[in-house]
Amino acid sequence: MGEVLPIILAAGRGIRMASSMPKVLHKLLGRPILSYVIDAVRGLGLKRICVVVGYRAEEVMKVFEQPEIIFIEQREQLGTGHALMCCKEILSDIKGDILVLNGDTPLITQNTLKRLIDIHKNEGSLITLVISKVKQPGEYGLIIRDKEGRIKGIEEVTERNKTRQSKEINAGIYCFKKDFLEKNIPLIPKNEKKGEYYLTDLIKIASEKGEKIAEIEAPFEEVIGINNRLDLAIATDILRKNILKGLMLQGTTIIDPNSTYVESGIKIGRDSILFPGVYLSGKTTIGENTILEHGVVIRDSEIGNNVVIKAYSVITESIVEDNAKIGPFAHLRPGSHVAEEAKIGNFVEMKKSYIGRGSKASHLTYLGDAQIGNDVNIGAGTITCNYDGKRKHKTIIKDRAFIGSNTAFIAPICIGEEVTVGAGSVITEDVPDKKLAIARARQVIKEKKKD
Ligand code: UD1
Ligand code: CA
Repeated sequence: MGEVLPIILAAGRGIRMASSMPKVLHKLLGRPILSYVIDAVRGLGLKRICVVVGYRAEEVMKVFEQPEIIFIEQREQLGTGHALMCCKEILSDIKGDILVLNGDTPLITQNTLKRLIDIHKNEGSLITLVISKVKQPGEYGLIIRDKEGRIKGIEEVTERNKTRQSKEINAGIYCFKKDFLEKNIPLIPKNEKKGEYYLTDLIKIASEKGEKIAEIEAPFEEVIGINNRLDLAIATDILRKNILKGLMLQGTTIIDPNSTYVESGIKIGRDSILFPGVYLSGKTTIGENTILEHGVVIRDSEIGNNVVIKAYSVITESIVEDNAKIGPFAHLRPGSHVAEEAKIGNFVEMKKSYIGRGSKASHLTYLGDAQIGNDVNIGAGTITCNYDGKRKHKTIIKDRAFIGSNTAFIAPICIGEEVTVGAGSVITEDVPDKKLAIARARQVIKEKKKD
């Protein structure tokens, strides 16, 4: 592709977001806006990526610190043109072309960027920019053409001539010949109304010199810029629908795409079914033929094949193996591992616990810091009392144990194989294999007092 230096502009505060957080850190389906732009650029396989930071630069740098990323500081945010002025030093030791992108355009694709660079090289133009056609130009810069249809400038919203009819907007993504950029950045005038330097004035500067400006068109869905939270919601919807479309075409049934959220990068096997209100996030994978019922929320978890997760279950940083059944209303907190064929029923909470093959905890149970073997039956209302007020302790329950309802295990404790625990027991001592343990007050039956 030849050397290309990408510069992503991400120094702005994003006043229109009405937020205390830098705009580019706001999340779009779970990931910061800027991460999408960086990923699209990274896909081009370039050696370095420059990111101009300014408003709360430390926070932004902390999130995106990577060996190939070079941060350039724009101390005062005096506009997109000024952001480029801050790149003077790095421009001086570059040979190839410069790709400039707004950091608030998260849906841009690698393909469009490739197309932009190719056209730029093939046409030999000084500037090539991405434009898009819209019904309402809103706050975008408008493309202004001369009688022959050649681009002669970009009219910003602050300068807008009310009678202007253009429906073509500037996407904020450009390729520049390096020499042109270096020579002309210092010529960008200060906009008196805003006190800012507009990068877009470079188009006018080139056009006035009779220089060649090339363009490519991209669909608006790819170039939407996030200026406020309405834009963020629109972009979320576009991205969400694209992700769901990809999943459906690869064999996932999504009953109601309007109410289903799947973040990018999540893999789902064939013939799995997502009911309305499902939300899948982080590094999650779902196997084949698995059913996620209404309102299931899963983050950073691995779910196997033929699993049924019933309505309103919440699973975080956990593993669920093949043929397991979870819920309804189950809560698997971080570090839970449900083995094959096991069942975690309604109102059961697990944390940092393993439950073995074919074991069941069907109702109203808390399993914290527990290691449970295979084919164990945990009766309703069983609680592992894992916390003594200072530290957490482990409960071990071995294969084929049968735990009666409403048992409390005072951890640390170990229950042997094939043990039976009587219902309502408070177990404070280890139980050897194959024994019966009952720890409850004996029932008494007395005559009632007569009045
Ligand atoms: C900009 C363009 C407009 C285009 C639109 C596309 C200018 C003057 N206008 O307008 O023509 O239609 O993008 O989305 O460029 N930034 C800095 N430093 C600054 C100011 C901004 O790094 O001093 C960064 C921001 O963090 C942001 C990007 O530049 O990522 C664009 O800035 P923004 O203020 O959103 O520009 P727009 O008004 O959207
Ligand atoms: Ca913008």
